[in-house]
This record gives sequence, structure tokens and C-alpha cells, in this order.
Amino acid sequence: MKASAIGPSNIAFVKYWGKRDERLILPFNSSLSMTLSPYTLDNKPFHTITTVEFSSRLDRDSFIINGLEQPLDKEHNEAIRVIEILKELADAKEMHFRVESFNSFPTAAGLASSASGISALTVAASKALGLNLSRKELSVIARQGSGSACRSITGGLSLWHKGELDDGSDSYSEELISSNDLDLVDIVMVLSNEEKKIKSRAGMKTTVSTSRLFRSRVDIAEQLISEILSSIKNKDYHKLYELIMKESNNFHAVLMDTYPPIIYLSDRSKEVIYKVHEINKDRNICAYTFDAGQNPHIITDESNLDKVVKLISDIESDAVYILKPGDGAHLVDKSLF
Ligand code: PMV
Repeated sequence: MKASAIGPSNIAFVKYWGKRDERLILPFNSSLSMTLSPYTLDNKPFHTITTVEFSSRLDRDSFIINGLEQPLDKEHNEAIRVIEILKELADAKEMHFRVESFNSFPTAAGLASSASGISALTVAASKALGLNLSRKELSVIARQGSGSACRSITGGLSLWHKGELDDGSDSYSEELISSNDLDLVDIVMVLSNEEKKIKSRAGMKTTVSTSRLFRSRVDIAEQLISEILSSIKNKDYHKLYELIMKESNNFHAVLMDTYPPIIYLSDRSKEVIYKVHEINKDRNICAYTFDAGQNPHIITDESNLDKVVKLISDIESDAVYILKPGDGAHLVDKSLF
């Protein structure tokens, strides 16, 4: 009873921030993201790979990420919730688990390592337990580990429906456009490998309870999602990039309006913002967007990629990853132990 899976990262164009149900991880607003390829254009890995084994012969549970033992309580390890749900579904409560996971990009630097990690775990663990779950079911389960992870279960352009039901069964991710039909590219610039100071789980809770601007963000989300979708379908990239940048700025304005304020952007992030507006002065050919961290994702399309890469090459960074859209988390024939 052992299986391995690769989980991709994703970058949200309309971001999730704020839960209406803390335990089930039900969001206030729907969100829209692009699932990223597990390998960069020059073939560097950019994903989490996870092997999971369940057995009644194991004498204890163990969870290792990048060689380090992880805590086994829900408070400190969000993956434990996913394992609990799956064990219950498979009627395997007495079994112990062994999880080994390897992240090939900087953890907790706003590069969605929880999305890749939890999606890989959900797919590998459900297979190891002999469960045969649909993408929708897998995304409902991954969501309960880490919200944004539900969108890494599906590929291409994925919409996480906020849902209305109290049990969360209609809060899942759906692939709207497959990766093959998208010609967008994400240039991830690692300005710093430093871990973010405020984890998204705690940060969003403070935002919900203190920010007055937060409500207006929730109110515009659905409309924004449909505008972004039409600009992608019509290949109106000038419009798309404007919408993506405004949404990122709105997100960080709401963070600033949180009390005490949450500031993820650094002076270096601001340099990137100014640079992108300079590049776009005649017409938008790219957009920046920042998650809960200082590292920018520069979104562009294939026809502008070389030009944008060249124009941003004078910005100092520790690493640059160029990623096309990719598929959702999937099983692989490779074991970490
Ligand atoms: O990774 P989570 O589920 O704790 O949420 C993070 C949310 C953002 O990355 C900031 C935005 C998003 O929708 O991905």
C-alpha cells in the first residue's frame, strides 16, 4: 500500500484570502489560478514529489520533508488533516503511515509549497489506500489541508468554486482551460529565500476580523474572475495583465489595511512593480503578481517571453524559474523509499 505523486505549484490571478469556515477551509470568495508545469523550460524540477505508505506493520507514523522529521499534530502540520480524512474514507484507522516528501523549490517563500505538497500527498495517499476518487473529490479533500492546494489537483486554468453548502461539498476546483490551450508563461523571480514572517493561515484570519477593505475585495471577486476569463479566451492580454496587476495590488492593499498590517512586499518587490510598469508603458506585455511573499511572478505570453526575460534581466535575483502551465497532481512510478 504505497504510492508516489508529483504535485505542482499554482499562481492565483484572483487570490484566495479569508475563510468563512476555519475547520473545513471554506473561502469567502472563489479564486482562479494557473497550475504550473512541474519542470521549468530548462528542465529544472519545480514541484513536490511525495511517497506515502500505509501499513499495519509500521510501528509508528512518520512524516519527512526534505529529510527533516515533521510534527504529527494538526496544529503544526496541515497535511495530517488530509491523512485523517482519507484513512476514515478507506476504513483504515488502525494503520500507520510513512510519508516522505521532497520539495524542489524554496519552502514558505510565497511559492505555494503548501499547494504542491498537499496536492501530491492527497493523490499519493488516496492511491496508497486503494481509494478511487474523482478530481472533484480529491480537490475537496486537498482543500481541507490547505485551501490553495485544491487548485493544484486540477491543471491549466483552474477555478476554485467558493461553494455555498455548509459541508463544503460544493467548494472544489474545476479545470476550465487545459494547459495545452493556454499560451501564458510564469517567470518566477526568487528575490529572497527567506521564510515569510506571517503564515497565510494566521494572516488571513486577522484580515477577516480587522480589515474593512476586505469586504469590498470579496464583493468584486466573481466579476473579476469572469473578466479575466473573457480576456484569456479573447487573447486580450493587454487587458488581462492590467486585471492581474490590479488584483495583486488590491490584495496587498487589503493586507496593509489589516491590523496590525501585513506587509509581504519588500523594497525589491517594489522595484519590480515599477520596472514592469516601465516595460508596459506603451502597451501591457506582462504583469506582476505577488502571493503571500515578496517574490514576484511575472506573467506573460509566449510571444512576449523572450522580450520580457531580456527586459527584466537587470533585476538582481537569487534564481529565476520560467514555467509554462501544467497538469494537476498525478501519480508517478518512482518511490522515495
Ligand atoms: O496556501 P494557503 O492555502 O495557505 O493560501 C495562500 C493563499 C495565497 O497564496 C496568498 C493566494 C492564493 O489564492 O493562492
